[in-house]
Amino acid sequence: MEILRINGGNKLEGTARVQGAKNSVLPIMAASLLARGTTVIHNCPRLSDVDAAVKILTHLGCGITREGGRVIINSSSVTRCDIPHELMREMRSSVIFLGAVLARCGEAVLSMPGGCELGPRPVDLHIEALRSLGAEITRDGGNISCRAAKMKGCRVNLDFPSVGATENTMLFAACCDGATVITNAAREPEIWDLQSYLTRLGYRVHGAGTPEVTVEGAAVSGDTEHSVIPDRVVAATYLAAAACTGGDIEITGVVPGHLAAAADALAGMGCRVTGSCDSVRIDASTPRRAIRPVVTRPYPGFPTDAQPPIMAACLRAEGTTVFVENIFENRYRHTDEMKRLGADIRIEGRVAMVTGVKRLRGAPVVSTDLRGGASLVLAALMAEGVTEVSGVRHIDRGYDDLAGVLRSLGAEVSRTRIADMTGFE
Ligand code: UD1
Repeated sequence: MEILRINGGNKLEGTARVQGAKNSVLPIMAASLLARGTTVIHNCPRLSDVDAAVKILTHLGCGITREGGRVIINSSSVTRCDIPHELMREMRSSVIFLGAVLARCGEAVLSMPGGCELGPRPVDLHIEALRSLGAEITRDGGNISCRAAKMKGCRVNLDFPSVGATENTMLFAACCDGATVITNAAREPEIWDLQSYLTRLGYRVHGAGTPEVTVEGAAVSGDTEHSVIPDRVVAATYLAAAACTGGDIEITGVVPGHLAAAADALAGMGCRVTGSCDSVRIDASTPRRAIRPVVTRPYPGFPTDAQPPIMAACLRAEGTTVFVENIFENRYRHTDEMKRLGADIRIEGRVAMVTGVKRLRGAPVVSTDLRGGASLVLAALMAEGVTEVSGVRHIDRGYDDLAGVLRSLGAEVSRTRIADMTGFE
């Protein structure tokens, strides 16, 4: 297995460019099934979740080529509509293929994972939305079978603005007769990016970024190119890393507006955060202090994915910061590992109380999920001595060379292969 070995204490300094957004590229890769032609995706990060999506598309019959940051998907001939369990389980969010496969093939058979690192993974909102557009759906054990009996656009209200359910509904609606109006839609920037891809393909989609997204069904095919938006969670992670170490860095290639909630939290700690048109700089040279409660909510609220890295930045801030996690029920698994480094964290249900400590000390820790794993690396950057983070495969799902980027900013981080004695990987 591989571990990240971090020798803490270095201040981060310099400039790094952020990767393309994982949460944009995955739904767009699924959406490429609708193109019936060639889609070239630019700014695609190197991630194991992208590898998993490539495997799924290949299994379905698409031709895929990867060249650096480009993925070229030829979906002219899709030969099957099932995705087996071993492919589905590789990617937490593989359910985003449901709407696209159903739209393209008129049927879809997917094996549904029961849960994931963050807790149960219900798909009721996805199913309800697709049913209202005319899909017949049956669940049998771990499988979900869908048939597009009639495909008729209508008004679809989501009880919660789920990102994945909004994306699945948009993709299925693109092939339904007439217009679909999704109300209480997710407003995340990645929804806008999916709209932008579908529009490039020739679909008429509007409203992304607001709670009402309209998709007009059409028969569209053709070749297209699309560049995915910058990854706001990865950018927030690097900014938080600078805050942890009292550093001064600039992250380029970002959309500063997408980072508003995380930047506000960091500014509240006493960091100087300034944005230009496509970069954000953070100067964390003054001591950090606790901030007002960090309450995770759908966009534009504080993103659940940025909760663990911002928590890392609070571990040595003076005073107590309260976190309230409203999106995923199992999103504090990193806190036990942070405590191994000396952090003072108390958990009561959805609430975590983090009281800043004077010092953290390196120790072996285990990453159990993507953002939690990254937050352990951040904590290690300010711990005295060496921290070894195992479970690196979780981090690889969403960070394109986290160790390399941190090294380029002055951190002492190496990636090492060690004999697997633990059975963790
Ligand atoms: C997406 C992101 C993920 C981010 C999350 C919330 C991708 C690939 N992943 O995940 O990084 O953490 O948004 O911003 O874009 N829910 C239901 N029923 C459903 C669907 C969801 O109850 O049918 C619940 C979930 O259990 C969760 C909440 O809604 O509590 C939010 O989930 P959702 O917005 O769907 O997240 P994802 O699309 O899975």
